[in-house]
Amino acid sequence: MGNRTQVTQFILLGLSNGPELQIPLFILFTLIYLITLLGNLGVILLILVDSRLHTPMYFFLSNLSLADLGYSSVVTPTVLAGLLIGESIISYNACAAQMFFFTVFGTVENFLLTSMAYDRYTAVCKPLHYTTTMNTSVCAHITIGSYTCGFLNASIHIGNTFSLSFCMSNVVHHFFCDIPAVMVLSSSDRHFNEMVLILTVTFNVLIAIPVILISYLFIFITILKMRSAEGYQKAVSTCASHFTAVCIFYGTATFMYLQPSSSHSMDTDKMASVFYTMVIPMLNPLIYSLRNKEVKSAFKKVVEMTKFSFGLTS
Ligand SMILES: *[C@@H]1O[C@H](CO)[C@@H](O)[C@H](O)[C@H]1NC(C)=O
Repeated sequence: MGNRTQVTQFILLGLSNGPELQIPLFILFTLIYLITLLGNLGVILLILVDSRLHTPMYFFLSNLSLADLGYSSVVTPTVLAGLLIGESIISYNACAAQMFFFTVFGTVENFLLTSMAYDRYTAVCKPLHYTTTMNTSVCAHITIGSYTCGFLNASIHIGNTFSLSFCMSNVVHHFFCDIPAVMVLSSSDRHFNEMVLILTVTFNVLIAIPVILISYLFIFITILKMRSAEGYQKAVSTCASHFTAVCIFYGTATFMYLQPSSSHSMDTDKMASVFYTMVIPMLNPLIYSLRNKEVKSAFKKVVEMTKFSFGLTS
C-alpha cells in the first residue's frame, strides 16, 4: 500500500439518477417497508398466539418472516437515505456490518426454504413418519443450524472482502454494501476472493436447489396419485404457498446469474437487487396468508378476539 491512504468510508450512489424520481421512489419504498414490517410481524404474532399453528411448517414460516424482517431492515435504511439526500455516506465499519447481516439473513432464508421443502416432502409423501421425523428437536436443530451457517457464511465473506485493500475509489455503484459491488472497488488482485464468492454460491446450485427440486418431484408424484379429494386439497394448499415462495426466491437469483455478463448492466443488477432485498420480504407473508386457510382462520380468530376485548372495554 505504501503511503496511499486507506478508505475510511464509502459513498453509496443509490438507486436513481433522476432527481424527479427520488420522492416517488422514497414514498414507494417506505410503503413497501411498512407492509413488510406489518406483514412479517403479523405472521410471527399469529403463529405465536394460535396453538393450531404450532406445527413444524409454521415454525419454519415464522423463522422465515424473522429473516425477511432482518434483511429488509438491514438494507432499507441506506436506500431511503440515498433517495432522500441523493447519495449516502456509510462508514467502513457500517458497510461491513451491513454486508455481514445481509449475508446472515440471506443465508438463513436460503436454508429455511430448503428445509421447508423437505418438511413438505415428509408431510405429503411420508405422512405416517411425519411427527417423528419432524419433531421439536429436529426443527430446533435445523433453525440453529441455519443461523450457524448464516454467521459462518457471513464471516467468510466479510473476511474475504475486507482483506482486500481499498485505497483508490470508495464510490459504490449500488444502494447498499453488496459484496460484488464493494469488491470491484479494491485495487488488489481479486481472483482468489472472487473464487470464494463463487464457491459459496455453487453450494446453492449443488445442494439447496436439488433438495428442493427432488422434494417437489416426489410431492407432485404423490399428489397426482392421491385418491381422496380432501387429502389432495390439503396437500395442494400447504405446498402451493411454499412452492410459490421458492420459485420467486430462486427465480430472481437465477435471473441474476443467468444473464450473460456482457449485458450485466448496473441497472438490471439494481432492479434485481431491489426485488431481492425489498420486494420478496414483503411478498412472503402475503403469499402464505392469502392462499392458506389455516392462516386466514387464525387471523379471523384474532380479529374476533380483538373486537371482543374492545367491546368489553369501551
Ligand atoms: C453465502 O453468502 C453469499 C453472499 O451473500 C450468497 O451468495 C450465498 O448464497 C450464501 N451461501 C449460502 C449457502 O446460502
